[in-house]
Amino acid sequence: MKKENLLFKDFPHFLHGGDYNPEQWIATPEIWDEDMKLMKEANCNEMTVGIFSWAELEPEEGKFNFGWLDTIIDKVYANGGRVVLATPSGARPKWLADKYPEVLRTTEDGKRNYFGGRHNHCTNSPVYREKVRIINEKLAERYGKHPAVVAWHLSNEYSVTGCYCEHCASNFIDWLKKKYDNNIEKLNHAWWTRFWSHTYQSFEQIEPPRGTGERSTYGLNLDWRRFLSDSMIDFAALEAETVRKYSDKPITTNCMCYYPGFDLYKMSKNLDVMSNDFYPVWSRSLSFTAEETASVAAIYRGAKDGKPFMVMESAPGINNCGVVFKKVKTDEEQFLEAMLYVACGADTVQYFQWRKGRGAGEKFHGAVVDHYGKSDNRVFQTVKRNGEALQKIEGVLGCEIKSEVAIVRDYDTMWALDGTHDGFWTTDPGKRYLNTHHNYFRPAWENNIPIDVISYEADFSKYKVLCLPIPHIMTEKNAEKVKKFVADGGVVVSSFCTAVADETDLCYLGGIPGAGLSEVFGLRVDDVDNYENCNWFYNEYAVMEHENSVIYKGKEYPVKSVAELIVPSTAETLAHFTENIEKDKPAVLKNSYGKGTAYYVGYNAENTFMDLFMKDVFDAHGIRAVTDVTSNSKAVRVTCREGDGERYLFVMNISREAQTASINGNFTDLLTGKTETGERILQPLEVLVLK
Ligand code: GLA
Ligand code: ZN
Repeated sequence: MKKENLLFKDFPHFLHGGDYNPEQWIATPEIWDEDMKLMKEANCNEMTVGIFSWAELEPEEGKFNFGWLDTIIDKVYANGGRVVLATPSGARPKWLADKYPEVLRTTEDGKRNYFGGRHNHCTNSPVYREKVRIINEKLAERYGKHPAVVAWHLSNEYSVTGCYCEHCASNFIDWLKKKYDNNIEKLNHAWWTRFWSHTYQSFEQIEPPRGTGERSTYGLNLDWRRFLSDSMIDFAALEAETVRKYSDKPITTNCMCYYPGFDLYKMSKNLDVMSNDFYPVWSRSLSFTAEETASVAAIYRGAKDGKPFMVMESAPGINNCGVVFKKVKTDEEQFLEAMLYVACGADTVQYFQWRKGRGAGEKFHGAVVDHYGKSDNRVFQTVKRNGEALQKIEGVLGCEIKSEVAIVRDYDTMWALDGTHDGFWTTDPGKRYLNTHHNYFRPAWENNIPIDVISYEADFSKYKVLCLPIPHIMTEKNAEKVKKFVADGGVVVSSFCTAVADETDLCYLGGIPGAGLSEVFGLRVDDVDNYENCNWFYNEYAVMEHENSVIYKGKEYPVKSVAELIVPSTAETLAHFTENIEKDKPAVLKNSYGKGTAYYVGYNAENTFMDLFMKDVFDAHGIRAVTDVTSNSKAVRVTCREGDGERYLFVMNISREAQTASINGNFTDLLTGKTETGERILQPLEVLVLK
């Protein structure tokens, strides 16, 4: 099994390297030679090239210049390394924007952007698509079989802020025609357009939800987000198709899972391997940062049926973009970070960036090679140490994490909540959606219980417990899947705001949970109360005078915001509210359905309750934790990667204090070669990799 899972069959090593921009040093080729020397010294074996090289590769329309790239790729190969080769669609050359202004993105209110920045293009522009196809074809033809190339990196951090140009607007209409069988009445119903007299007489009348246009038709908002996502995925498919004509090397794209622009699970169908750019900020909170990193990793495992993924970017030293705290990483933080990726299923540790440029936007962003240019600086040494460690733990490659618990992450719900301006469930919806996910992730993570984050498309049957945080949109099809899962013996834990609306965000009639799930949970939600300021008109002034809490197993826990007024039919009450109209009414319930069990958490719970409650659920249903190493401290995290009959345990002290762990068995720490057994004091941020 493990051998089949190797990401790079003819290069069975952790890729250790990162984004390299040799074109920035084209006038000083001696720097290229220096890079090769330093690459070896840093224990790096990979360079990701070509990401922003279009202007250098095609300096004039139809005139190509691959000489410098040939040289670089050959140099890396001669140095014993490999290349991840990018397609350059993430940023376009000036001539392209000047000659074909339609390739530039158009804002919500119809203003075309000027040339500048990156990702500033329209994915639906026929010219852009054609120009990308041509340059990709040239690259794939030339390097598709080059032994140095281990993988393809499509574009860079595909993201959709949305383009509102004439191509996008008209493609949207075609997309809608297809979806609604060319039947405008079907669309009017699905979008509930009689509201505010918005009925359409023909598809041609439909406009994207512009900034100064229509924003209150939630079905329109949601379909627009789906359309943008589909456009991006289709664009990536075109890129992938062109590359695949000439190359059988695995294809990936570096995602940022918190960019809500496209459905990452649908995107995964275009890709052979998933990859993410990770930028944990250790100076914020060590435990939360580790948890967040692990939760992101769980998405990438979940998107490819548990297979290992790539860490395409991470910062050696500081990250200079979009981060509030630009604090240096300590040696221990840098090491823990690299090991944590692998502990959570990564088969590569790559950085942004290899060498700091001398000018422009990212000249102060962390890099393996500083402006200083030598190897005896601290950050370089931390990278070198990571490389050494990766060589020692190569047996881990291809091993998987076996999870019995999963969280369902649903883009439709995320987009629907984002596009919804009213409703008690939906204050600050994006944030609440992600926070609620954390509320289900953390209890598993802190109990060393492997957990994946999946989509409704995944195979549920391999899991015992499914968590559905805020499953607001519930299609009939997904509801059937959930029902079957429980009926067959599965355990579902759902939160407030379950199955409220159908595929186009039309509320279910006949009570919620809708789509037949009321029966599964054995309850009906009668009303929704709220304990936070949820009025976007009076943000500054509204102060809530009421509070509420719940009693669970004799102890009291605060209600963060939402509290539903629940009428049980067959469900039994596990926790109840203490105040107001919900006083003594159920807050958390349990119902038997078929051979399985459905739990319902009818309020927005804070951490202490969720940690305890989920632990009880895991215990009640015999969910497996990794117990080879145990500790009384929540700061000791243990993960297990297994394959080919071997198990590798990652033991990490995620705290700035020493912690005690018990090692229950006889193991070898692959990092030190020492035998480890019995009680063990773990130093702050210490990592062991036990076999
Ligand atoms: C992103 C990009 C990189 C670089 C880094 C800096 O992840 O993909 O090109 O800009 O951010 O943190
Ligand atoms: Zn456009």
